[in-house]
Amino acid sequence: MNGEGAAIEIRDLCKRFGENEVLKGISLRVEHGSTTVILGASGSGKSVLIKHVIGLLRPDSGEIWIEGEAIAQAGERRLNEVRRKFGMVFQGAALFDSMTVGENVAFPLREHLSLSEREIRAIVTEKLNLFGLFGVEDKYPAELSGGMRKRVGLARAIVLNPGMILYDEPTTGLDPIATENVNGMIVEAREKLQVTSVVISHDIGAAFAVADAIAVLHDGRIVEYGAPAAVRASEHPHVRQFLSTWFSRV
Ligand SMILES: Nc1ncnc2c1ncn2[C@@H]1O[C@H](COP(=O)(O)OP(=O)(O)O)[C@@H](O)[C@H]1O
Ligand SMILES: [Mg+2]
Repeated sequence: MNGEGAAIEIRDLCKRFGENEVLKGISLRVEHGSTTVILGASGSGKSVLIKHVIGLLRPDSGEIWIEGEAIAQAGERRLNEVRRKFGMVFQGAALFDSMTVGENVAFPLREHLSLSEREIRAIVTEKLNLFGLFGVEDKYPAELSGGMRKRVGLARAIVLNPGMILYDEPTTGLDPIATENVNGMIVEAREKLQVTSVVISHDIGAAFAVADAIAVLHDGRIVEYGAPAAVRASEHPHVRQFLSTWFSRV
């Protein structure tokens, strides 16, 4: 069986930069329609891992399967097609500040499809409404709150109807209310779009708020994996220590 049935399957992935061994044999299976959080401290290799999934980095060894297709050795053209399967929500909303909200969300449509202005407008409004944003098409990103900008970023990420969404540190730098808003948005996206979601984060509270499965990344390895309750009950010393930094406060 090679990545069969899973949305994403990673097998024994290793990656080093010079002397810096970042990933030391990562194996992870992400089920269709699930939300998997890859939880780890800053610098643990979360972004490096996710860059392999979208083919921005090549592994030194190991396999990466996306919807049953091996991509570790795929050519650039094939990788471009694989990337179209993903919506990416980056740290910060990464919106174009000089464009209106509507133009931001329309951007991937204009890049990849040839639709009429009316069709574009309709899709943009539909996607914004889906995430609770009404009448903001003509506003500029700077006129919206942090949480609303995140939602615009998500609307743009899913405007081409990808089956999977990757969130890189979606709650980093947000205040508690905006964090809750973004957590709600991730859950909504999963429910409304039935997408497969991968969230990479060091935010323990956010991880436990959105995850079906949590994979704890530490020292180049996944040291714990499972449903949130199982991960919370982990006996692994690092996991216990890491989680205590959050759970001891509540
Ligand atoms: N392109 C690169 N070249 C060299 N080292 C890198 C590169 N990208 C990441 N690293 C290193 O890999 C490690 C993990 O980085 P990263 O995945 O960004 O961490 P995280 O996202 O968990 O905060 C860090 O030590 C970082 O310096
Ligand atoms: Mg990162």
